[in-house]
Amino acid sequence: MNILILDGTPAGDLMGARVAGELCSVLKAKGHETEHVLLREKEIGHCRGCFQCWLKTPGVCSIDDDNRELVAKHINSDMVIALTPVTFGAFSPELKKFADHLIQTISPFFCTVNGETHHRQRYDRYPAFVSIGWLPGPDALQEEGFRHLFYRNTINFYTEKDACGILYTGMSDGEIRESIASVLENAERGKFAAHVTSAPKFQLSATAPVPVRSATLLVGSPRMAKSTSASIGGYLFGKFSEQGVRTETIQIYKIFENPDKMSRMLESLDHSELVVLAFPLYIDSIPAPVLETLRAIAEYRRAKASGGRFAAIANCGFIESRHNENALASCAAFAREAGYSWMGSVSIGGGEGLVHGKPFSELGGPAIPYKKNLDMVAHALASGKTVPDDARRELAKPFTPEWLYRAIGSYGWRKQARRNGVQKEIGARPYAAAV
Ligand SMILES: Cc1cc2nc3c(=O)[nH]c(=O)nc-3n(C[C@H](O)[C@H](O)[C@H](O)COP(=O)(O)O)c2cc1C
Repeated sequence: MNILILDGTPAGDLMGARVAGELCSVLKAKGHETEHVLLREKEIGHCRGCFQCWLKTPGVCSIDDDNRELVAKHINSDMVIALTPVTFGAFSPELKKFADHLIQTISPFFCTVNGETHHRQRYDRYPAFVSIGWLPGPDALQEEGFRHLFYRNTINFYTEKDACGILYTGMSDGEIRESIASVLENAERGKFAAHVTSAPKFQLSATAPVPVRSATLLVGSPRMAKSTSASIGGYLFGKFSEQGVRTETIQIYKIFENPDKMSRMLESLDHSELVVLAFPLYIDSIPAPVLETLRAIAEYRRAKASGGRFAAIANCGFIESRHNENALASCAAFAREAGYSWMGSVSIGGGEGLVHGKPFSELGGPAIPYKKNLDMVAHALASGKTVPDDARRELAKPFTPEWLYRAIGSYGWRKQARRNGVQKEIGARPYAAAV
């Protein structure tokens, strides 16, 4: 077999080298042709969320860097093996940076799989997928999150063979090798993704409610102020201001690559009693720059006494809001690791279709019931309470029938491709047998 190893080990993580070493020796003994790519050494820009890889240069990312060559190799491999420390129950930012670019390997058009919305295949076949993560020791919630993410990824990327394994840093080299060998055997046999159909449930804060005096909104979308994330988060924060809460908004994409701005952001969070992250779903999870920022916050807070509260708002492209549940569980895992009280989350499906890049306060029609429920969320969070169950449930409902959303969405993609003069190429397979 022709196998591509996508190694998402961050600098300084010694377990990554041990896992990669054992994996390569197992694969060599089996006679496979293997390429090991240490992602942190590659030049890969962050996905800009521009959809040009669907609507301007179908199948090819607008960023001309190593992501293109790696996507070509990815699609032409028999098997892709991802290596990563389990980070908030998900991938490392180093691995996620590449994974976000996989959007160019699927079609913009919608279909249904297991009764829920997904994208159609761009290519006839996708590689078998193996995901190997490691943790310092057993952690039931993070492990469940990692396996659930893996399962979600195998649906979106149409794998015919797959398996997922979790290792612990205390394992001997022999144990690591044995564990890897058994994961590979499972993947060679066929589909092994256990149907982990729900994301782990993290405990909400049970501390007595104390009204919030200051709150920070972290917007985690490359579209920044024009994003659905900023629109929904901005509406909530407008309500906070009306209730006398001092508010601040920080665009993660403006600061995460600048060490000075990043350290100013970390210090400013010390003075915030509530932090709310608003972000789009990228490949079933949190976008890479947002993960990187969360990791930096958790590291910064490790040396400090815990305190403060954290909540999250996710919006996704598919109409069913449940696609967001894994990413929101990651946010809860982050809160636990960073010593924040977890105040709960808001999950919104079909974000693009609902918001159209407009400020939420200006929207009418289907947005009206959302406003009523966001008002309830704002009131609860500002009073120091968790996100109310009723409001969460209402906000998670689709704003239009699923079939109608899929039909209008697919029409919209076709219209934009026509405007760009690429309607005939929209299903292009630029990397089919390119390597
Ligand atoms: C790289 C990339 C990956 C995405 N992956 C998913 C996904 O797995 N599931 C989903 O429902 N939507 C996905 N989307 C769609 C976005 O979540 C959606 O467009 C969202 O409304 C964007 O919000 P924003 O304006 O706040 O960035 C993806 C978009 C991009 C650019």
